[in-house]
Amino acid sequence: MRALLAGLAAATMVAAGFAAAPEPRTAAAAVLPYQDPTLPVAQRVTDLLGRMTLDDKVGQMVQAERAVVSPGDLTTYRLGSVLSGGGSAPTPNSAAGWADLYDSLQRGALATPLQIPMIYGIDAVHGNNNVAGATIFPHNIGLGATRDPELVERIGRATAEEVTGAGQDWTFAPCVCVARNDRWGRTYESYGEKPDLVSSMTTVIDGLQGDRLDGPASVLATAKHYVGDGGTTNGVDQGDTQLSEAELRAIHLPPFAEAVRRGVGSIMISFSSFNGAKLHGHKYLITDVLKGELGFTGFTVSDWAAVDQLDGRTGFTQAEVVTAVNAGLDMLMVPVDWKTFVGYLRAAVQSGQIPTSRIDDANRRILTKKFELGLFEHPYADRTYASTIGSAAHRTLARQAVRESQVLLKNQGGVLPLAKAGGKLFVAGKSADDLGNQSGGWTLTWQGASGNTITGTSILQGIRSAVGSQSTVTYSRDGSGIDGTYRAAIAVVGETPYAEGQGDRTGSLGLDSTDLATLSRLRASGVPVIVVLVSGRPLDIASELGNWNALLAAWLPGSEGAGVSDVLFGDYAPTGKLPMTWMQSASQQPLNDGDGKTPLFAYGYGLTYDGTTPPPPPPTGTGSCRVSYATDDWSTGFTANVSVTNTGTTALNPWSLQWTYSGGQKVTQSWSARVTQSGTAVTAVGETWNASLAPGATTTFGFSGSLTGSNPRPASFSLNGLACQAS
Ligand code: GLC
Repeated sequence: MRALLAGLAAATMVAAGFAAAPEPRTAAAAVLPYQDPTLPVAQRVTDLLGRMTLDDKVGQMVQAERAVVSPGDLTTYRLGSVLSGGGSAPTPNSAAGWADLYDSLQRGALATPLQIPMIYGIDAVHGNNNVAGATIFPHNIGLGATRDPELVERIGRATAEEVTGAGQDWTFAPCVCVARNDRWGRTYESYGEKPDLVSSMTTVIDGLQGDRLDGPASVLATAKHYVGDGGTTNGVDQGDTQLSEAELRAIHLPPFAEAVRRGVGSIMISFSSFNGAKLHGHKYLITDVLKGELGFTGFTVSDWAAVDQLDGRTGFTQAEVVTAVNAGLDMLMVPVDWKTFVGYLRAAVQSGQIPTSRIDDANRRILTKKFELGLFEHPYADRTYASTIGSAAHRTLARQAVRESQVLLKNQGGVLPLAKAGGKLFVAGKSADDLGNQSGGWTLTWQGASGNTITGTSILQGIRSAVGSQSTVTYSRDGSGIDGTYRAAIAVVGETPYAEGQGDRTGSLGLDSTDLATLSRLRASGVPVIVVLVSGRPLDIASELGNWNALLAAWLPGSEGAGVSDVLFGDYAPTGKLPMTWMQSASQQPLNDGDGKTPLFAYGYGLTYDGTTPPPPPPTGTGSCRVSYATDDWSTGFTANVSVTNTGTTALNPWSLQWTYSGGQKVTQSWSARVTQSGTAVTAVGETWNASLAPGATTTFGFSGSLTGSNPRPASFSLNGLACQAS
């Protein structure tokens, strides 16, 4: 349906020639009290309500999708709002194209007798992601990993500027869902599995709405989806949250209470159910709890055609309209059949099924936000912010957010950070050079898509920029061509984009066969493998982890992939902490902190680079290995001859000898083994013909290196992680 809408939208816009010259924002002449900006908002609302007909009030509560509505429809039906569903964009998809669309629809709304401006809603959920060229910030799961509410507030402000620059004034964000089962396709839209973490990130609302809703570039925010969308059984999207009310209040309600405290202007009701009762018909939770107990004074908005679901049959009936509005729904998102909806709503009021007081309450809430936004004085797009869309400043902010969102989960032998200089680096993986994969769903289109779909920097491009000419970077998507001459292999793997229920995973939560094949090729080379996981959730990788030297959870970083390479090369030491408990196995789901299950990595886990003290050397002593190490030195270089004996009782296949240098030595080339270096860490593995070391066997190899002065002997050696006797 959404794809159809998007196509129809494009045709409609071109056919109707809406790209008229934008009109300046002008304040309507103050003739009537509601048109007088010097009066208190409440007084203006009361005056306006008193002038509105039933048609005015009914229309004000209905939001239609832009693909199926014209400016003339807004005039005729007095519609209060228009939205863009995911990917529903004008042609051209440019700041001017969006602002022209907005202004043309606004002219239709202002042609009504009372000239009530419409409000335009869009899913700007990680930047203004429907607009071509926009800055795409990390999705919320990565922002939760930053544990940085101040950063998230700045992201809200930047997003507000890019929304304003495209003419819109309302975003359906933030999702303050508390994701409790990683199978849920919207896990990445959650800041984390714990209410306190999610609540801490509601600072984004302050960034979006500013100090005043009529302040520069302020837009209306939406806390969504009320309530319990992240707690459905088995993580089924739009499913049933089967909890006691006490559990619902403890886990899923707090972020909404915090959003209300911060003055969030709208709240979107969830498709899901609470113990079998659809939220869109839940008067107790919407009216008694949200509006009564929590004191929410903004307006509620339904989700996409959600009223249709109330009776379990397709389409909607007047009875469903009555149920939803009487439950406390104020603005109804009716993407397509909005004309039918207007008729049912009017009839329901005329028949007394919906009391006029409920209609007036809904209108009062909606009009209050429109007055507070300043829409009556400044109804047209503020094009002065168009230049902020995709601006360097916003991309810099996004790159910092990417850096802070990276979570280092494994770093064997201190293989990270990688040195920028020396030797060759190998990059592989389907998501290494794929802006679409690194951005995920809700990017230009509803579902997102693989490929270089947006303006930005891929992770590979970030790696190349970081090393410049200091190293050779080879990229091979599937890992073919890797050999032992590389000092490290970076594999960027994970998930391809998805949104909502299409992202639900009921079966495996592991890597796909493409990624597994790539990783297998890299491992066979014996080169240290660094895995960068681009995914919307933790994945089931425990069985593979032992083959990896390092693991960095990158989540869905968005347009600024260089933030990932900043961490890989140590330009930013990782500070990210897991916002979700990481499973040992998919069978553990749901898996959350404190539930008594043993995870692979705990909630809050995250390593950093210990630049001051290298990892403690393995204990010397008998071990299961004997090494002889001798060098011939000259002023600028040296050669080394090494023999290693397996004194243990089991064959080592492949064997891997490791040590660290402390004097700035740099390995340059080797023979009879593949010797690679990353920072101070050196790894030697056998060639194909001497890859295995049987019990009691000895192998000898050599290498040359450069010196910057002294050539201190390595303090210790380890063979496959076990200490060696050294001579
Ligand atoms: C979707 C989503 C909601 C979004 C809305 C408008 O179905 O559930 O998060 O804001 O429709 O696109």
